[in-house]
Amino acid sequence: LANAADITQYVAIIYGWTAVNELFLDHGAAKTRVLVNTGLLSHIGEYVREMGPPPVVVVCSDETVAGHYGERLIAQLEQSGLRTRFHKFPAGDASKSLDELDRIYRELADARAGRDALLLALGGGVVSDLTGFAAATWMRGIRYITCPTTLESAVDACVGGKTAINHVAGKNMIGAFHHPSLVAIDPECLKTLPARDIQAGLAESIKHGLIRDADFVDWHEQNRDAVLACDPDVMAALIERNLRIKISVVEQDEREQGLRAFLNFGHTIGHAIEKHANYALRHGEAVALGMVGAAILSEKLECLTHADVERIRDLIASYNLPVTSPVPLDIDTVLQLTQGDKKALAGKRRWVLLKQIGEATLHDDIDDALVREAVMAVSPQAT
Ligand SMILES: NC(=O)c1ccc[n+]([C@@H]2O[C@H](COP(=O)([O-])OP(=O)(O)OC[C@H]3O[C@@H](n4cnc5c(N)ncnc54)[C@H](O)[C@@H]3O)[C@@H](O)[C@H]2O)c1
Ligand SMILES: [Zn+2]
Repeated sequence: LANAADITQYVAIIYGWTAVNELFLDHGAAKTRVLVNTGLLSHIGEYVREMGPPPVVVVCSDETVAGHYGERLIAQLEQSGLRTRFHKFPAGDASKSLDELDRIYRELADARAGRDALLLALGGGVVSDLTGFAAATWMRGIRYITCPTTLESAVDACVGGKTAINHVAGKNMIGAFHHPSLVAIDPECLKTLPARDIQAGLAESIKHGLIRDADFVDWHEQNRDAVLACDPDVMAALIERNLRIKISVVEQDEREQGLRAFLNFGHTIGHAIEKHANYALRHGEAVALGMVGAAILSEKLECLTHADVERIRDLIASYNLPVTSPVPLDIDTVLQLTQGDKKALAGKRRWVLLKQIGEATLHDDIDDALVREAVMAVSPQAT
C-alpha cells in the first residue's frame, strides 16, 4: 500500500471523519475516525503513520487479548517503523483501578512519553476505559487509538469519549470525556470471543434498535442465525449500523444533557441487577433483563402495547439472552440499587422508556410500586 489513498481504498467500510468532539478546541479539529474492516489489524501501522507518526506508541492490553493479538500488533507497528512499548494488565473489571492507572503512568514515564506520544488500547471496554482515561490525563491529554476486540466495545464503548476507572465509591466513578483519534475495528477478532460474550454485546445492539431505529429491530429478527453464527460480513454490517446510531446520538448530546441518556435504556434495572448479582452476569445479560423491565414499565405508563412488550421479550430470548434472571433476586435490594444509579438526577431516578419500538422517551420519576412490578416480572421467583 503506497499511500493514504490506497489505504483508504483498501478499507471497505469507512465512516470518514466524524466530528464527535467539538468541545476539545485546544486539540484543533478533534475528530474520531472509525474504521471497520476484516484484517484491519494487519495494517494498523499505516493508519498510525497517517495520523502523524508519534515518537512512541504505548500499546495497552489485558493478558487474554494480549495473548491472542498482542505480538502480531506490535510486530506490525514495528514493521511500519514505529517505536513501541507493550503494557499488560490482568483481564477483568478490577483492572479499572487507580493502581493499574498508576502502572500505565509509570510505563509512560519510562518511555519518556511526551504530549506527542500515542496510547493504543487493544481489547474490550475495560482496556479502552482504562487506557482512554490514562490518555485523558497524562500531560493533560494525549492522543489514543482504540482497537476493540469485544462486541460490547465494538458496538458501544469504543465511541462516545467516555473513559473511566472504578472506585470504592462506585463503578466508573472517576473519569473524563476524551475521544480516541482513531477507532479501528477488525471483526476477525470476534472469532476468539466466547459465544456468551458475543450474546452479551448483542444486548446493546438490540438496545440501539429499540431506542432509535425500528428497522434495525426488524433486522435483528431477520438476521438472527447469521448474527449468532458470527458471519463476518453480517457482523461488520451490524457494527457499522450500531456505531452510526451511537455517533448520531453523541454528536447531538455529548455530555448527556438529554438525548444521550436514551443509551441508558435497560440500564437502571440492569445495573441494579448486575450489582446485586455481584457481577455474576455479563453486563449485556443484566441489560437484557433491564430492557424487559423497562419495556414492562413502558406498557404500564401506556406508551407501549402489550404486543410490543412480547415482541421485545421474544427478540431478546431468541438471542439466548435472559428474560428472567438466572440468579435469585431480592426485590427490595434491587429496588434500592436502582435509586443509587449514578445517572439518577438530583436524587430522582431518571427512567428511559419506549414510546414505541424505535423511539425512546425520558421519565424523571416513577411510582415505586410500578418499578417493583417490573422487577418482579424479570425475577425467577415471580409466578
Ligand atoms: N466507555 C463507554 O462508553 C462504555 C460503554 C459500555 C461499557 N463500558 C465498560 O466496558 C467494560 C466492559 O467491556 P467488555 O464487555 O468489552 O469487557 P472486557 O473488556 O472485560 O472483556 C471481556 C472479556 O473478554 C476477553 N476478551 C476480549 N476480547 C477478546 C477476544 N477477541 N477473544 C477472546 N477474549 C477476549 C477479555 O480478556 C475479558 O476477559 C465495563 O467496564 C464497562 O463499564 C464502557
Ligand atoms: Zn451498557
